[in-house]
Amino acid sequence: MKKIKVGVAGYGVIGQRLADGVVLQEDMELLGVIDLAPTLAIRALKEKGMPYKLYLASFEKEEEFKRLGIPISGSMDDLVKECDVILDSSPGGIGARNKEIYLKYNKKAIFQGGEKNSVADVFFHGYANYERGLNKQFLKLTSCNTTGLIRSVDCLDKAVGIERVAITIIRRVADPGDYHRGLTNALQIDKAPSHQALDLMTIMPHIDATGILVHTPITHGHIITVVASGLKKINKEQALEAFSKHPRIRIVSIKDGFLGNASLFRYARDLGNPRGDMYEIALWEDSIVESGDSIMYAINIPQEAVTIPETIDGIRAVMGLQKNSAEATSKTNKYLGLGKWISQ
Ligand SMILES: NC(=O)c1ccc[n+]([C@@H]2O[C@H](COP(=O)([O-])OP(=O)(O)OC[C@H]3O[C@@H](n4cnc5c(N)ncnc54)[C@H](O)[C@@H]3O)[C@@H](O)[C@H]2O)c1
Repeated sequence: MKKIKVGVAGYGVIGQRLADGVVLQEDMELLGVIDLAPTLAIRALKEKGMPYKLYLASFEKEEEFKRLGIPISGSMDDLVKECDVILDSSPGGIGARNKEIYLKYNKKAIFQGGEKNSVADVFFHGYANYERGLNKQFLKLTSCNTTGLIRSVDCLDKAVGIERVAITIIRRVADPGDYHRGLTNALQIDKAPSHQALDLMTIMPHIDATGILVHTPITHGHIITVVASGLKKINKEQALEAFSKHPRIRIVSIKDGFLGNASLFRYARDLGNPRGDMYEIALWEDSIVESGDSIMYAINIPQEAVTIPETIDGIRAVMGLQKNSAEATSKTNKYLGLGKWISQ
């Protein structure tokens, strides 16, 4: 089997996890990663024995890399030339600049949520609009919150049909170790409607969505509450049945000890997941309630790892590896071990 050659540009929070996720795909090969500074992630890569080859987007800090004994395999151009697809996880806005290099070598690329939608041909989600990404050159992934939100809304939509959602996002303000965000103890409200609701409508235009976002001074996961209104009444049993079958949704319960985001982070570490990552969103069974004809529920979004599966679906789409969402997502899920808990 000819493997798809993949490179990752930007070896930060998302890039490290994308690289690890690609390595798990039996039909893909990670050729290397690109960065430009000896960050902690790059130092850890060196201490781990350089499992991934490192290429530089800029040689400004070459001397520092040399001093630290971090081997460099070449320039960004060297890696891009060899790849079929680049996963660009550089800081928001830098991807649009890197795109020039992808265009120069006529390569496919998948950008993350910090870029403008205009960077790509299609704003992409592996479940909700996989087919629109087929054989395109550039995709942009939804942000972490939108990725998880769409998983749950699409799941209900496919099961019973949804026409309207209203959401509240309780958003973690920083990733662990983000000192540049400050030491804070305050909540902050964004102007409504939140971009996640607008993004959902871009990808699922048949659904009317709105929402409010509240920043919170925590780092391990966002929580979103969703009120979803169906074409007809949705009851709790129908919703739970649909959610329970979804390989990227883990049903949890307060009575079992899942009290909030921190319980999930701890559980992921107890599972032995690298860095305490979770690809799946968690949905509290005890949060599902009926309100008139609508259904309300709460989900946890592990922001650092949640977009990895849908980004890998994106590779499958741009390369035309599978012709539809069901086939593509089931391959990605199999290689990432998603949904194992459903049959246990
Ligand atoms: N952190 C999250 O929770 C999260 C979740 C979902 C999506 N995203 C999105 O993912 C993207 C990356 O975010 P992140 O949090 O991983 O950022 P990050 O700052 O942790 O990592 C970015 C890395 O890119 C490197 N870099 C800078 N310029 C570069 C260039 N020209 N080429 C290659 N690498 C370069 C930096 O040195 C850094 O190591 C953004 O679009 C962001 O909005 C982030």
